[in-house]
Amino acid sequence: MTHYRSQKIQLDSPAGRVEIAYSQAGHGLPLLFVHGYPLNCRLWQPQFADLLDTARVIAPDLRGHGESQVTPGPYSMEMFADDLNALLDALGASEKIVLCGLSMGGYVAFAFARKYPERLAGLILTATRAAADGPEAKAGRDQAMQTASENGSKVIFDAMLPKLLSPDTFAHRPDIVAQVRAIMEHTPLETILADLAGLRDRRDSTDLLPSLRIPSLLLPGEHDAIVPLHEAQAMHAAIPNSQLQIIPQAGHLANLENPRIFNQAVCDFLGRIKNM
Ligand code: MLT
Repeated sequence: MTHYRSQKIQLDSPAGRVEIAYSQAGHGLPLLFVHGYPLNCRLWQPQFADLLDTARVIAPDLRGHGESQVTPGPYSMEMFADDLNALLDALGASEKIVLCGLSMGGYVAFAFARKYPERLAGLILTATRAAADGPEAKAGRDQAMQTASENGSKVIFDAMLPKLLSPDTFAHRPDIVAQVRAIMEHTPLETILADLAGLRDRRDSTDLLPSLRIPSLLLPGEHDAIVPLHEAQAMHAAIPNSQLQIIPQAGHLANLENPRIFNQAVCDFLGRIKNM
């Protein structure tokens, strides 16, 4: 993939020194892409391919993921948000940014919006929800941690892969299926456990939504089997200055499954922010 080269940087994050890998290309408004669980920044390859004339695209591997350093867990959403803040400082991105978070990356976006609101010009949220885990979801995380500890992470990946993609992508796009599997398989067991604990214990962000004053764009995949459409609709109703665009022919990973529509929506949104 052209334009896609990972670099590493040492960050002084509140949780301690950590080496974070990231890719950066393009120019203009900084657009920070935050991946989900159990993925890494390679998820954003179709955005690097299309958006470099529109924005300065920055996509880190969250700690423990991709090429970033693995540190002891659990990984809280606030810890990830602190790392992103330190990364922006280290990259000299002093102007306001647009943050695009996918799923767990969306939970991180909420933590970031709570801790560093002055850094944000806009938010893009895809495949995510504001609510915390309920008792059933928490029990599911505990079960997944036990399964992964006893049998290894492959069991988790096998169970998750079909849910990450729309049935159509899963059946007819072996290239995307293989790409997502390769991304997941790069995630060590220690990170899986650290993520699951952080996901289980994350705080509820529902109360944050009405206080968000920045433009926000919700881009749910039409066939997301992990986060149903009504979650995005509820966030759209609660965030004052928000737009909702459902990405057709896509599941949980709309940016990868339908990059043409996803990228166009991002471009239009950035255009709106630049003209404000
Ligand atoms: C993700 O894609 O980041 C996860 O599915 C989020 C979650 O399990 O809540």
